[in-house]
Amino acid sequence: MQREPRSARATARANIALAKYWGKSDVALNLPAVPSVSLTLDELATETEVTFEADLDEDVLVLDGKPVTGRPQTRVRALLDRVRRLAGLELHARIRSTNRFPTGAGLASSASGFAALAAASTRAAGVELAARELSALARASSASAARSVYGGFVELPAGTRGDHSLCAEPIAAASHWDVRLVIAITAIGPKTVSSTEAMERSRTTSPYYAAWVEQAPVWAAEVKRAIASRDLAALGNAMERSTMAFHCAAITSQPGTLYWQPGTVAALHRIAALRAGGVPVWSTMDAGPHVKALCEASEAPHVAKALDELPTVRKVITASPGQGTEGTRSPPKKEAFSSI
Ligand code: DP6
Repeated sequence: MQREPRSARATARANIALAKYWGKSDVALNLPAVPSVSLTLDELATETEVTFEADLDEDVLVLDGKPVTGRPQTRVRALLDRVRRLAGLELHARIRSTNRFPTGAGLASSASGFAALAAASTRAAGVELAARELSALARASSASAARSVYGGFVELPAGTRGDHSLCAEPIAAASHWDVRLVIAITAIGPKTVSSTEAMERSRTTSPYYAAWVEQAPVWAAEVKRAIASRDLAALGNAMERSTMAFHCAAITSQPGTLYWQPGTVAALHRIAALRAGGVPVWSTMDAGPHVKALCEASEAPHVAKALDELPTVRKVITASPGQGTEGTRSPPKKEAFSSI
């Protein structure tokens, strides 16, 4: 058994779904019930270092300089247990992870977080995974993380029960289309209900969940076609419908999950008003109160200013297409491990 500390780092970027994933077809394997399509974002990066050490009694997680316990620690341990099984390793790990964006703001930190953790921990354990295997490993922890393994435009197909190997697939490189997502932060602090919990509530209690599962593949196909032809209006329309439909399933669950805050509604109206005034911009939201506006790069400064003017918008971040998780395509040589 390996006794020396072994360490590796990885950087992964968050992604925002253009066609949404919401609900699972297999809860135990964490398989999505619907296909989703996303854009990986350059500005929203997570850097993670994993070190397997002989003198640790348990896995220790430090996020943005603070020790983390509870559910996040449990989810991290579950991924590390898979990696230990793959590597035949018994050591525990120290994980230091830093988000280059506000974690508590409810942006998609689990996607970049689990993609970076999967890459860094497998490298540290000396396991060389192909990108699709890395994507499947990240997906088992958080389905949206499967997409962050790749850069640019990415699809995660729906999963069929029992399919351990489901992984995301790249559709088009970041350079394919110079769009922007202008993110309006509308509340401070972590969200009250996790996406995992809220989508389970939707699946088990919303009368609209079945309609969502039936329609979501139609919007995912429209989004894919629109990406291929760089048709922003077609993409925006499908994205808005996908967004509203999954929120409908969340709001109508028992108990209902309403992520929206006053700033959410203000930003949605501002984006609609901009579009009515001739600016090609469309909105999307995830499991939180923030609103993301999709537009061409040339329109982004104008859109950012219009959102920043709203009193209920706290901060605006403009994000552009980004690369996949670093180090996945060319696994590091043994010398790349830095011992501490
Ligand atoms: C609304 O990937 O966070 O952001 O698989 O349970 O970890 P788990 O869920 P997660 O859900 C993301 C939901 C979403 C839409 C999306 O990213 O596709």
